[in-house]
Amino acid sequence: MAKISHAQWSSKLTFILAATGSAVGLGNIWKFPYMVGESGGAAFVLVYLICIALVGLPILVAEWLLGRRGQKNPINTMADLAKQEGRSKGWVLLGISGVLGAFVILSFYSVIGGWSLSYTLGSVTGDFSGQDADGIGALFNGLLASPGTLLLWHSLFMILVIGIVARGVTAGLEGAVRTLMPALGIILVVLVGYGLFSGYFGEAISFMFNPDWSKLGGDVVLAAMGQAFFTLSLGMGIMMAYGSYLGEDVDLLGTARTVIILDTLFALIAGLAIFPIVFANGLDPSSGPGLIFVTLPLAFGNMTGGVVIGLLFFLLLTFAALTSAISLLEPVVETVEERTPLSRVGATLVAGAATWALGIAALLSFNAWSEVSLLGLSIFDFLDTLTSKYLLPLTGLLAVVFVGWFLDGDKVRRELGLGDTGSKLWNLTTRFIAPIGVVVVFVSSL
Ligand code: PHE
Ligand code: NA
Repeated sequence: MAKISHAQWSSKLTFILAATGSAVGLGNIWKFPYMVGESGGAAFVLVYLICIALVGLPILVAEWLLGRRGQKNPINTMADLAKQEGRSKGWVLLGISGVLGAFVILSFYSVIGGWSLSYTLGSVTGDFSGQDADGIGALFNGLLASPGTLLLWHSLFMILVIGIVARGVTAGLEGAVRTLMPALGIILVVLVGYGLFSGYFGEAISFMFNPDWSKLGGDVVLAAMGQAFFTLSLGMGIMMAYGSYLGEDVDLLGTARTVIILDTLFALIAGLAIFPIVFANGLDPSSGPGLIFVTLPLAFGNMTGGVVIGLLFFLLLTFAALTSAISLLEPVVETVEERTPLSRVGATLVAGAATWALGIAALLSFNAWSEVSLLGLSIFDFLDTLTSKYLLPLTGLLAVVFVGWFLDGDKVRRELGLGDTGSKLWNLTTRFIAPIGVVVVFVSSL
């Protein structure tokens, strides 16, 4: 028998916290609220919920199910399952592309995590106080232009991630999410409380929820489907790795529903925390890193209580980034640990150092290496495109197809506790709707 290092989640609750910690990230804090506001408000929320039920949920459950069956890292899990089911060895590709995707994403995700750390400190030292738009813009551009500063923050962020993951599933991952997730919830509630008294809460509500059915078109549905995929951290081997620490007794469908509700609530509430501040300060609610690192700091620097609110906001962002980052390192570490003689700590150091090194290339693409172009993209954008446009959809698609078409249907049905109708729905979504959804998003993004 292969070396099994498998700890298990110590409770269903900590598993939910860890999976939600992975899911809640930048996608919730800036992307989703803005998409809602721009794409039809409550009408978009409805479309999004349908997409998450038809595409997000089946893929999430499929990844957990595969991980739990294999009880190993995504690559070995797929090798074992393909053999057991008498399928082609080629299915290890699913595991490889997941682990590779996680590794590459973490390299540049950590650079952004570093920005977040740097802004957390900046909000305490009063970097934003009294600055005008030019001053705040110069601050951000100055950060991007300085390889040394970027390297410092990227390294600090990776050290935190490595420190947590090296301690293993129970002491490391669970320990971190047990503290960070409640903190995340409390900070969010405080920020929404502030928004309630800002006098602009109503405006935030109407920006986010006024149903506008005329905005719903094909591209909005595609965007909702893409978001449903990204927001649940699918296609990165993460949920497979997390599933490998699951016991038989955990109800996968019910747990998936909980994680999805928490992720969606987080995203909606984040909007109610951010937009009152944006509108109260007459700022542009536009999307992207600009909202977080330029627009909001401008508001923090010029409003009453801005130092505290700014600090809380960047702590929120840093904690959210951290719980996502540990989930990205986990599948890589699990793979290195089980496929080499290295210990957990050794495997974390090796995987972490390799990620850190690739991250240096990503951060240099903002300055010293800004001229370097891979297929017409900067290194940072290349790594982002390679993963979000190719590796993730490929992994997610293969996972749901393998579960839907190649596993013994009766066994899956018992494992998920499905009745007749449930199992028809499950087959319909895993065999057709979810794969077609991913392929359509993939093709249209090219
Ligand atoms: N699910 C995260 C979010 O919505 C995205 C993410 C998580 C990306 C982990 C990479 C790694 O923001
Ligand atoms: Na998310």
